Amino acid sequence: MSWAPSVAGWLGGFLLVPALGMIPPPEKVRMNSVNFKNILQWEVPAFPKTNLTFTAQYESYRSFQDHCKRTASTQCDFSHLSKYGDYTVRVRAELADEHSEWVNVTFCPVEDTIIGPPEMQIESLAESLHLRFSAPQIENEPETWTLKNIYDSWAYRVQYWKNGTNEKFQVVSPYDSEVLRNLEPWTTYCIQVQGFLLDQNRTGEWSEPICERTGNDGE
Ligand SMILES: *[C@@H]1O[C@H](CO)[C@@H](O)[C@H](O)[C@H]1NC(C)=O
Ligand SMILES: *[C@@H]1O[C@H](CO)[C@@H](O)[C@H](O)[C@H]1NC(C)=O
Ligand SMILES: *[C@@H]1O[C@H](CO)[C@@H](O)[C@H](O)[C@H]1NC(C)=O
Repeated sequence: MSWAPSVAGWLGGFLLVPALGMIPPPEKVRMNSVNFKNILQWEVPAFPKTNLTFTAQYESYRSFQDHCKRTASTQCDFSHLSKYGDYTVRVRAELADEHSEWVNVTFCPVEDTIIGPPEMQIESLAESLHLRFSAPQIENEPETWTLKNIYDSWAYRVQYWKNGTNEKFQVVSPYDSEVLRNLEPWTTYCIQVQGFLLDQNRTGEWSEPICERTGNDGE
């Protein structure tokens, strides 16, 4: 009887099976994109060996391109992607010749990026407050480029309230300035602003409130 070689062969074959799937994939993979700064982020999976590396890719012309290759980092900057593209981005964990499954994320920058808060300056003139806004700048573009250049229906939504009260008022302005008139004299108002895309009913993040006191007309 000569079954021993086949057992050896079976064992050998078993041991030679590539250990695909033994490396756990990166966890909590998400695209963190604000104003077109697109950072793919993930967490190191629980695994006894600590020297895992990661490779992140994006799909272009139906093939995947390495972007961050064998990095020890837990993020990869994809800000170079075309704003209007529709992408699959993916990342896997690696150790020597072994690797995990890919974790896929779909990403369309112009639809998915978070609209960061605009900047605002306030000037108090008698019983009105004059507001000036600047739309957020875009990552990887000249300084004069803001989100207004990308989104045709861009507007600012302003929310204000008398400090210490809960009733809030809103105005929407397509312009870089707005005047809040007929306010109460000698009163502190708090104001915040967000980007707002009229055609999509899509809102951005609120700026931190800024509080400013009115004067009065006789002043
Ligand atoms: C990721 O996408 C690839 C095809 O591009 C697919 O083979 C694979 O199963 C996907 N992985 C997951 C975890 O969905
Ligand atoms: C707003 O009101 C609170 C009390 O309600 C006060 O402590 C705070 O100083 C006020 N802020 C400003 C900027 O006036
Ligand atoms: C816009 O979205 C808000 C919530 O984000 C919703 O309350 C409102 O009804 C929407 N308006 C329109 C016209 O769809």
